[in-house]
Amino acid sequence: MRIIKKIDELRMIIKDWKRNGYTVGLVPTMGYLHEGHKSLIERAVKENDRVVVSDFVNPTQFAPNEDFESYPRDINADAALCESAGASLVFNPDADEMYDSALTFVDMNKITKVLCGKTRPIHFSGVCTVVSKLFNIVTPDRAYFGQKDAQQLCVIKKMVKDLNFDIEIVGCPIIRESDGLAKSSRNTYLNPQERQAALCLSRSLEIGKKIITSGERNVKTVTDAIRAEIDREPLAEIDYIEMVDWNTLEPIEAVRKPILCAMAVYIGKTRLIDNFIME
Ligand code: PAF
Repeated sequence: MRIIKKIDELRMIIKDWKRNGYTVGLVPTMGYLHEGHKSLIERAVKENDRVVVSDFVNPTQFAPNEDFESYPRDINADAALCESAGASLVFNPDADEMYDSALTFVDMNKITKVLCGKTRPIHFSGVCTVVSKLFNIVTPDRAYFGQKDAQQLCVIKKMVKDLNFDIEIVGCPIIRESDGLAKSSRNTYLNPQERQAALCLSRSLEIGKKIITSGERNVKTVTDAIRAEIDREPLAEIDYIEMVDWNTLEPIEAVRKPILCAMAVYIGKTRLIDNFIME
């Protein structure tokens, strides 16, 4: 698998692809790839002639107290996964190559300040900045994002609309372990006891879904039931559980679709997110 480190080199390759009339798909990642990423790459391979996987642990989306340093990295394993999924190349720049004394950042109001944005106030500015840069470097026809980061997906769609990027954003379903845990690079932080405890996220969301399906329309009743299930797990500490309008991320009191029910829960020191969307 070709691993490209330099922006200029990548640009030359992409210009050549475009001269040949190839469509280009981009799968932005922070590496330590798993089956969730693989599903994005495979979808991109189906829908585009060439696929770039970016593999970059983006420093600007981590606050100083977060896990930038310890975030897991394994470029060789990532390259092997990209190869098996049919990607054309991996873009793996250094932080200096991406940010070389940059003074320009992309920021967004409102929808970046709710849900994860409350606990991670600088996070989405870092995400919007790096994704804009990747869009400008790769100039893809389509870019693929997992629905596990539902707020991120919503933010990126809004950014693409607001800044007139001519790129189709494709949201892809959450990939789960067989016992329900949503796949995440951060799952590697969990010890066996925590790994078991982490199942309370998907279990509680299933309870929430069932209650809605059985006719309950009061959001507080649903989120209270979800909260009660998480509270039964001693290793879990809730950051937030919220149900919002999936288009605007505004809070709702009565269930009216499309809804996003999203949560962030600490299992020990590891902050995990999960959600369901009802369209
Ligand atoms: O979802 C991620 O892995 C990151 O937030 C992204 C989109 C690659 C930006 O660094």
